Amino acid sequence: MAEGRQSIHGQWSSRWVFVLAATGSAVGLGNIWKFPYITGENGGGAFVIVYLLCIALIGVPIMMAEILIGRRGRQSPINTMRTLAVESGRSAHWQLLGWSGVLAGFLILSFYSVIAGWAMSYVARSGSGVFVGLGAEQIDEIFSAFLADPTSLFFWHTLFMLMTMFVVARGVRSGLEQAVRFLMPSLFILLLLLVGYAMSTDAFVTGLEFLFTPDFSKITGNGVLVAMGHAFFTLSLGMGAIMIYGSYLPQSASIAGTTFTIAIADTVVALLAGMAIFPIVFSNGLEPGSGPGLIFQTLPVAFGQMPAGAVFGTLFFILLVFAAWSSAISLIEPAVTWLVENHGMKRLTACLVSGFTTWLLGVGTVFSFNIWSDATLFGKTFFDLLDYLTANIMLPLGGLFIALFAAWIMKRDAVRDELGFKQSVGFRIWYPLVRYVTPVAVVIVFLNAIGAIDLG
Ligand code: PHE
Repeated sequence: MAEGRQSIHGQWSSRWVFVLAATGSAVGLGNIWKFPYITGENGGGAFVIVYLLCIALIGVPIMMAEILIGRRGRQSPINTMRTLAVESGRSAHWQLLGWSGVLAGFLILSFYSVIAGWAMSYVARSGSGVFVGLGAEQIDEIFSAFLADPTSLFFWHTLFMLMTMFVVARGVRSGLEQAVRFLMPSLFILLLLLVGYAMSTDAFVTGLEFLFTPDFSKITGNGVLVAMGHAFFTLSLGMGAIMIYGSYLPQSASIAGTTFTIAIADTVVALLAGMAIFPIVFSNGLEPGSGPGLIFQTLPVAFGQMPAGAVFGTLFFILLVFAAWSSAISLIEPAVTWLVENHGMKRLTACLVSGFTTWLLGVGTVFSFNIWSDATLFGKTFFDLLDYLTANIMLPLGGLFIALFAAWIMKRDAVRDELGFKQSVGFRIWYPLVRYVTPVAVVIVFLNAIGAIDLG
C-alpha cells in the first residue's frame, strides 16, 4: 500500500524543509534572468497578466498533482510513474513521462549551467570594482566581449557543473537544506534594495507602467505560449523535479498549503526583479527586448552608480548563483535517483555519469554565443532551440500528462486521500481544474501558437 512506501533516498526532516527546497528549485535564473527579458521581448504588461493567469490556473493545480504523484510513488519519476500506473491497472508505458522529464532535465541544465556561469563571472567582476562609474554603453561592451570568449564561458560552466554535482552527490538533504535557509531571504532583501535604487531613477514610473499596464495588441499567440511555458519553467514543473522532491515529503504535510507558499514566493521574486530592472532599462535608454543579456547589461549600471555598489553587486551575483545552484540540483535529481534505483549505482557514480553528460551538452550553448552564433535552425541558435523546446514544448506537455494522470488514471479516492484536504471544498475546486480546465487550457495555448485556431 502507498502508505507503507518509503523512499530509499531519504526524507525531508519536515514540511518546512520541503517548502525551502522546492522554493529553492523554483526560484532561480528563471525569475531573475529569464522573466525580465522575455517580458521585455513580449511587450510587457499583457504578457505579465497572461503569465500570472497561467501560474494560478495551470501551474498551481499541476504542482499539487506533481507533488501528490511523487509522494504516492516515493521513487524516481520514471519508477513512480510505472508503479502508480500499474497499480491503477494501466500501462507501464506511463513511465515515458518520467523519461521525457529526465531528458528535459539534461537539456535545461546544460544551458542553465552556462548562464549560471555568467552570473559567477559577474561575482568576480563586481568584486574587483570593474563596474564602478561606468555607463550603460561600456557595460554592454564588457558583456559582449565576455560572450565572444568561449574559453571563459566554458571555464565558468565547468565550475558551476562541479558545484552542482558536489551537492547532488552528498544527497539533497545535507548541504542544501542549510544553504537555502538563509540564502533565499538574503536574495529577497537585496532585490528590495535594487527596487529601492530603481525608485531613485527618473524612469521608475515608466518601468512600472511597462510591467503592469497591459496592451493586449502587443501579445501574439507565440507570446501566450512563451508565458505559459515560463509558468512551467519558473515553478520547475513538468519534468519531475517537483515530483522527486515530493517523494521525500513526510506523509502528514499538506500539499495545498505548501504549493501556495512556493508559488507565491516564486511570483513575488519575479515581479521584484522586473520592478528593479525595467526602470534601469528606461532611464538608460536601453532596449527592453534585447534578450538574454538584459540583466547583465542593466544591473551593473545600477551597481556602478549606487554607493557601495561594488559590495552590493558582488552580494547580488553571489545570491543569484546560489539561487541557480538550488535549482540546478533539482534538474538532475530525477536522473540520478533512477540510476541509483535501476542500475545499483552509488550516488556518486550516478552523479558523475549524469553530470558529465550535461556538461558535454553545455558546450553547444557556450558556442552558440560566439563561434556558432550564425548556425541557426528556424532562425534560432542552439541555445535558443534548447530553451524553446524545453520550456515551451516539453514542460507543458509533461505537465499536461501529469494532470491527466492524476485526474483520469489514478483512483479518485487515492488522490483525495493523498491530498488530505481537511475541507472538501478544496478538493472540489482542484479536481475539476486538473481534470478539465488545465488540460484544455494547455491544448488551446498550443493550438493557438501553431496558428491552428485563431483566438484573435
Ligand atoms: N525553476 C527554475 C528557475 O526558475 C528552473 C527549473 C526548471 C528548475 C525546471 C527545475 C526544473 O530558474
